[in-house]
Amino acid sequence: MPDPVVVTCGGRRCVALRPDASGETLRAAVRETSGAVLIRSQGCLGPCVWAPVALVAPRSEPGGGPLAATVLGPLHRQADLHSLADWVRDGGPAAAPLPAPLRDLQRRDLT
Ligand code: FES
Repeated sequence: MPDPVVVTCGGRRCVALRPDASGETLRAAVRETSGAVLIRSQGCLGPCVWAPVALVAPRSEPGGGPLAATVLGPLHRQADLHSLADWVRDGGPAAAPLPAPLRDLQRRDLT
């Protein structure tokens, strides 16, 4: 199963509230995988009430349809970002269960 796609919100509220302004925690985790992708949205993703948010989705196989994305937020604490980074390194939703520290931050799945 391919590594995940991680989308961080580039909206004003999320950017203002992020504990890792540089985004280096997730970038470093993605670089350690063979195929994870990190995307920063150009604007608000919508669920500002949970800012700062990130979406994580398994990548579909070539020719496959869209897969559900897990919405996480608020990711206020650096420790939560490290848990997310560990999950990305472990293969994300297609390969590993959501880490316990992130379970209370799971808001909904988007399909
Ligand atoms: S600013 Fe990030 S969800 Fe709205």
